Amino acid sequence: MPLTDETVVAVVGAGAMGVGIAQVAAQAGHEVHLVDAAEGAAAAAREKLAATLTRLVDKGKLTSDESAGILERVIIGPAADGDLRELPPVGLVIEAVVEKLAVKHEIFGTLDDEQDESTVLATNTSSLDIGAIAADLAHPERVIGLHFFNPPPLMKLVEVVRTTQSAPEILRDAQALMESWGKTPVLCTSTPGFIVNRVARPFYGESQRLLEAEVADAATLDFALRELGGFRMGPFELTDLIGQDVNFAVGNSVWHQTDRDPRYEPVAVQRELVEAGRLGRKTGHGYFEYAEGGQPVGV
Ligand code: NAI
Repeated sequence: MPLTDETVVAVVGAGAMGVGIAQVAAQAGHEVHLVDAAEGAAAAAREKLAATLTRLVDKGKLTSDESAGILERVIIGPAADGDLRELPPVGLVIEAVVEKLAVKHEIFGTLDDEQDESTVLATNTSSLDIGAIAADLAHPERVIGLHFFNPPPLMKLVEVVRTTQSAPEILRDAQALMESWGKTPVLCTSTPGFIVNRVARPFYGESQRLLEAEVADAATLDFALRELGGFRMGPFELTDLIGQDVNFAVGNSVWHQTDRDPRYEPVAVQRELVEAGRLGRKTGHGYFEYAEGGQPVGV
């Protein structure tokens, strides 16, 4: 079944990325089923989406009718605990759960068993081998990467990632669908970190090494790279936005997949932040401090 404006979408994982992807799909007119394994998480994400939409209406970027329509198209569940066997038939699943191969592999196994063989199964993984996520499935040809960037409603780039088995017509359809969602797709092959996360590893890692060597503090390093290097965000504020846990998992994944190439070795300072629960904006503390709502304090 080709991907069209009418395709019913499921988003698995209602965290930072999942809720943003659900918003983008619903805004493009799709019915979206939002699923999360943590009880109440999908409903909480929908509440968060409602608040975001209200802000967009207040700013004049959406009408209240458009906002109501988007929210109405985002359906929670079906099961509060994210049981994928209860998901109705959909045309496209976008998985955005924790960056762990075993978890994603199990989810794709269930979807492969339960959904029609024409259903396209996409992962939002930042770094994992999509061929490994699709390993042992009956229909690995319908598995692709759709890698959105944070925050999905604002970031235009989407990496459309192919494995050696992905069907060319599905990749073509997926690129067309992303364009119809107002995104700018780039096609690439599944290799560690794809394009952006692979190139970004040294951006984060070298900046963290400079911090550890006390060359300058995080705000100064961010300032220099943002203002003088031309980046939209510096590495410390950006990893606080991404989530230190997510960024650390991605860094580890790229490092392991490149036979522990020292260029990609995660730096101690990031491990320490994760162990201390300083995950960035989502916990209110990371390299910087954040007020409720995620605004930086004193930076
Ligand atoms: P998050 O930690 O905010 O959310 C993950 C969600 O998945 C949680 O709500 C969790 O309860 C749920 N979950 C975990 N196991 C599940 C399962 N078995 N079934 C259903 N739900 C499950 O993570 P975030 O930041 O949204 O990242 C999700 C994925 O997106 C990861 O693969 C990450 O690498 C990727 N990504 C993250 C970006 C970022 O800036 N945070 C950017 C682009 C991709």
